[in-house]
Amino acid sequence: MPAFDATTTSEQVIKAFGQHAKARTFVITGASQPSIGSSMATTLARASPEHIVIVSRTPAKVEPVLAAIREGNPSVKATYVQADLSDHDSVRRAAGEVLQATASKIDVLINSAGNMALKEYTVDKQGIEMQLSANHVGHFLLTNLLVPALLAAADANKEYGSRVVNLCSLGYLISPFRFDDYNFSGGKTYDSWTGYGQAKTANILFSFGLTKRLKKHGVTSFAAHPGSNLDTQLGSHLTMDDYNSILEITKRNTGKDFVFDEPRFKSYAQIGATPLTAALDPEIAVKAPALLINSQITETAEHASNAEFVEKLWALSEKLVGQEFKY
Ligand SMILES: NC(=O)c1ccc[n+]([C@@H]2O[C@H](COP(=O)([O-])OP(=O)(O)OC[C@H]3O[C@@H](n4cnc5c(N)ncnc54)[C@H](OP(=O)(O)O)[C@@H]3O)[C@@H](O)[C@H]2O)c1
Repeated sequence: MPAFDATTTSEQVIKAFGQHAKARTFVITGASQPSIGSSMATTLARASPEHIVIVSRTPAKVEPVLAAIREGNPSVKATYVQADLSDHDSVRRAAGEVLQATASKIDVLINSAGNMALKEYTVDKQGIEMQLSANHVGHFLLTNLLVPALLAAADANKEYGSRVVNLCSLGYLISPFRFDDYNFSGGKTYDSWTGYGQAKTANILFSFGLTKRLKKHGVTSFAAHPGSNLDTQLGSHLTMDDYNSILEITKRNTGKDFVFDEPRFKSYAQIGATPLTAALDPEIAVKAPALLINSQITETAEHASNAEFVEKLWALSEKLVGQEFKY
């Protein structure tokens, strides 16, 4: 792996690994302008992939991203598929559209959509807490419905295989997955950061579960913490005091100290670097599953990698989407 660090930009990652994106098909969720998904999509386009499919909620917010991809590199096919990840009917319809648009062959799926620290306890259409829903459960369903296309790409490109990157966060250290009370007792035990911590822990456990099932077929999965930034919409409803409350909540939940990223914030040019490394570096496939921070494979805390928790989350997620996925 090149000597990437906290200052590495998406453009530098594309310069190093762009040849592995050429002529391949990418699906990216959550790519409104501006977001980490949009920064990844527009930078990736410079490497001349065959097709970038954006799965996101609000058409008007994706239009400028599609235009930027086409302007930046007219040879790249850019497709938009509307989906609300918190609505399982919508996810199922969208998965069908993605399979059709990609002729059932996807080289890389980057699950970047998400929300963070919702102040009010909110549930989705199915009754699932909204951070768990949009960050994990919707992606669990979408990814599994797209697995046939990931398997087809892995089969066609045995040297590289295919990949699923789940955007997680250092915020996973705020809370383990609350198997006994994942829905916060209907809101009674809810706090916004614990909900985020649980959802981001789920992103990592899911990467481990996917890799365990699919690595033998050439599909690997990584979790990527992009670093924090203030340019995207994720924390636009929060104050610095809200962020600082993470310290107390983490201590209460886990007994441990939370340590913020250093440097505290990345720029918009840097924020896509780690997930793009996870998507494109050919040498890390053998090391999957793993968590990447600052474009480097990093040790994952026990609560997000424990084999029993990986399986418990897979079984719970199947229950929540009403479908089993066996490989
Ligand atoms: N930004 C950071 O500082 C930071 C730090 C650590 C980890 N992360 C992680 O990085 C990922 C991306 O964050 P970001 O900064 O790009 O966030 P963002 O600017 O808020 O963008 C989130 C994207 O997800 C979409 N989305 C949200 N809920 C959705 C739903 N129910 N269905 C479909 N799409 C939905 C949004 O669409 P709409 O615009 O239409 O709502 C938007 O395109 C998240 O997983 C986050 O946890 C971010």
